[in-house]
Amino acid sequence: MEKLVIEGGVRLEGELELQGSKNSALPILAAAAVTGETSILKHCPQLRDTDAAMRILRHVGCEAERAGNAVIVRSDAPKQWEIPDALMREMRSSIIFLGALLSRFGRAELSAPGGCDIGLRPIDLHLSALASLGVRTEERCGRLCCSVPNGLHGATVTLPFPSVGATENTLLCAVRAKGETVIRNAAREPEICDLAAFFNGCGAKIRGAGTDTVTVEPAERFRALEFPIMPDRIMAATFLSAAAVTAGTVCLHRAAPQYLVPVLPYFEQAGCVVRVQDDDVLLHAPHRLQSTGLVRTMPYPGFPTDFQASAMVMAAVSQGTSVFVETIFENRFRHVPELQRMGAHITVHNSVAVVEGVPQLCGACVRATDLRAGAALVTAGLAAQGVTQVSCIEHIDRGCERFEHNLSLLGARIERIETDTE
Ligand code: EPZ
Repeated sequence: MEKLVIEGGVRLEGELELQGSKNSALPILAAAAVTGETSILKHCPQLRDTDAAMRILRHVGCEAERAGNAVIVRSDAPKQWEIPDALMREMRSSIIFLGALLSRFGRAELSAPGGCDIGLRPIDLHLSALASLGVRTEERCGRLCCSVPNGLHGATVTLPFPSVGATENTLLCAVRAKGETVIRNAAREPEICDLAAFFNGCGAKIRGAGTDTVTVEPAERFRALEFPIMPDRIMAATFLSAAAVTAGTVCLHRAAPQYLVPVLPYFEQAGCVVRVQDDDVLLHAPHRLQSTGLVRTMPYPGFPTDFQASAMVMAAVSQGTSVFVETIFENRFRHVPELQRMGAHITVHNSVAVVEGVPQLCGACVRATDLRAGAALVTAGLAAQGVTQVSCIEHIDRGCERFEHNLSLLGARIERIETDTE
């Protein structure tokens, strides 16, 4: 078992190139199975989740190999439309392969996905959107057996909620459907734009990605493509929060600041000086952060739920009281009891958390309960007095590439240790 051990109280300083986006790489790895061509995905982060997606690609008969920070996928001869339970359980995003398999084979068999339990996470919106494109779904012994008896056809899909995953699965099918598809109330996340840009590079015609109405004209024929995965906007915010809670100064390169619009004001309200220059973001933090009042998580371009935990760590050491309202997932305050172990003053009422800032957190032994909660506990450890040990770090490895290495490049005293005790 591995743990991260952090000696707190060190001011972070320096510069870093941002990793590629996990939440863009995963749907694009699935999309690479749809084209039937060779895709070279540059800046594809090396993570537990992308490794799991590559295992699924190989299982269905694609070639998927890593070459430095690129992944090369050849999908000319996939053979398999069934994904075993074990592979599905490795990560929630495996559901994205439903659209890819239906698009390639007109059928798919898989079980409900696993992943971090931050909420119920049903897939009803995925299945109802795909039904509009001609997909028929039967559930047999806990397995979803999907088919397209008359082939995929274009349709107008109106999503009751702008679900990221349901929008992506609809795009994965629409690029091979007969006729045009229109997605209304589509998710507007930048990762949707990146998936659309990938498909457009391969020959599809997708318009309106990033808005609530996306139109898809299927590709007449796909072509091979070399494609740069966008930077990870959540990891950008996470590194900036690490600098903010240590009164540090950091510069992030390849930061795509245009996608950080929902979070940069949060840092400024907390008293940080933020400078954007081309693709770089520089943050200089004050000695003590200020509380920022009310934070409500929302679909993009609202405040990202994936940054809520790290933002709460900033609030925990700020001057004043902050209130967080989590509107996206039902169970996304699992970091709170761990932060309370470190001396944070946080009270939770259902989806509302009230955070009274304290001058200093104390090092403690804490447990990562999911990816973003884990990254937030590491950030808390950087701010705390003394030593913090974070266990269950397999969650962190799902989405943070070489986290301790990158933080130590900014001067953090952090190391990964092998241990046989939790
Ligand atoms: C994506 O998850 C991200 N994952 C999540 O990031 C992110 O938190 C989420 O979008 C919201 O931004 C990836 O991109 C791989 P949704 P996804 O479908 O697609 C409900 C991280 O830490 N819903 O927009 O699963 C659902 O339960 C992860 O990197 C239904 O009810 O998000 C949730 O409450 C965590 N029925 C809400 O919608 C459905 O069929 C948002 O889900 C689908 C979703």
